[in-house]
Amino acid sequence: MRKILVTGGAGFIGSHLVRLFVNSYPQDHIYNLDKLTYAGNLENVKDIEGRENYHFIKGDITDTAFLDEIFSTYQFDSVIHLAAESHVDRSISEPLAFVTTNVLGTVSLMNAAKKSWETQLEGKLFYHVSTDEVFGSLGDEGFFLETTPYDPQSPYSASKASSDHFVRAYANTYKLPVIVSNCSNNYGPNQFPEKLLPLCINNIKENKALPIYGKGENIRDWLYVVDHARAIDCIFHNGIHGETYNIGGFNEWTNIDVVKLLCKIMDKRLGRETGTSEKLITYVTDRAGHDLRYAIDANKIKGQLGWEPSLQFEEGMELTVDWYLKNRDWLDNVTSGEYKNYYDNQYSQ
Ligand code: NAD
Ligand code: TYD
Repeated sequence: MRKILVTGGAGFIGSHLVRLFVNSYPQDHIYNLDKLTYAGNLENVKDIEGRENYHFIKGDITDTAFLDEIFSTYQFDSVIHLAAESHVDRSISEPLAFVTTNVLGTVSLMNAAKKSWETQLEGKLFYHVSTDEVFGSLGDEGFFLETTPYDPQSPYSASKASSDHFVRAYANTYKLPVIVSNCSNNYGPNQFPEKLLPLCINNIKENKALPIYGKGENIRDWLYVVDHARAIDCIFHNGIHGETYNIGGFNEWTNIDVVKLLCKIMDKRLGRETGTSEKLITYVTDRAGHDLRYAIDANKIKGQLGWEPSLQFEEGMELTVDWYLKNRDWLDNVTSGEYKNYYDNQYSQ
């Protein structure tokens, strides 16, 4: 029986991970620690809230006294750390919030784990979930390997890179048992509609412009969120402590092609004539310092741990669209209130 603390479990990826663990490991106890920021939503985990092996703890990973208290109360033996500020555009307008949560929060969490595990490090694990954006931006060629030097270009990726460095420094200095994984862009149900795909799904539904930064030629490597959760499960249970694993979809698309594919699926699902949604595509001012291309070489996790993506992209996109259309209340709730101010500020030019 393990006692696993998952941070950020009310967010997009964290909620899928918590569900997977609660269902797959009924003997383990999963503690979901989340501050419930604008991106955290308990609706994302509503289906498992009554389960005996699931526990929710509301709190902030930068609150050191609170962290000491919960480590002492619950005696966690592992941490899977996902809580973060996660949106690049917000990091451009509010970089300090990213330093606070992503850097200070990660170090505070490791301090609490270190203190709690001081007398017995065996059987313990601090698993840090990170992003491929720490490697910077690729040109037309090449892939990110686990050995690629860090070269973060946005305040978001700089804060994640910093947290990754601290995690490795704690492994080296204090012998904290750690694993780091760096994943490419996720998509799927429950993603907050500030990110490209759910933002476009919402706007198509509302017949609003689809804002494409620059020329739409930037490339991302897309992975279905449940496949990321499966990869974390696989690494958590079978990965080697001290190692890093890259996770990706073997699935590169330019932004414009991804949005055109989405438009086609939405037209079909909404019973609109083919080509209707594409007319909403609008090119807008580029993101400052916009990384051109991300592409992960995921052959290490594939070869060593036998993980690979389970879904084709078109299939995953159809599942995603169907989820958003079926869960209109979820979308309406998260796009009311504060989201409107964010949207107006971000897309006013
Ligand atoms: P998200 O923004 O959807 O969720 C983040 C969660 O963290 C929210 O529930 C929020 O309430 C919580 N949180 C924020 N600050 C907190 C704090 N101070 N204390 C406690 N909880 C707090 O993010 P996501 O897309 O699910 O990403 C999860 C993790 O995966 C992040 O670490 C991110 O860097 C990483 N990641 C994301 C992607 C992606 O494509 N979304 C890809 C690779 C890695
Ligand atoms: P996003 O979903 O924010 O993820 P990330 O910046 O972490 O890759 O953006 C994905 C891509 O889509 C990225 O190249 C920026 C672009 N994009 C737009 O063109 N328009 C938008 O409104 C948004 C939010 C993103």
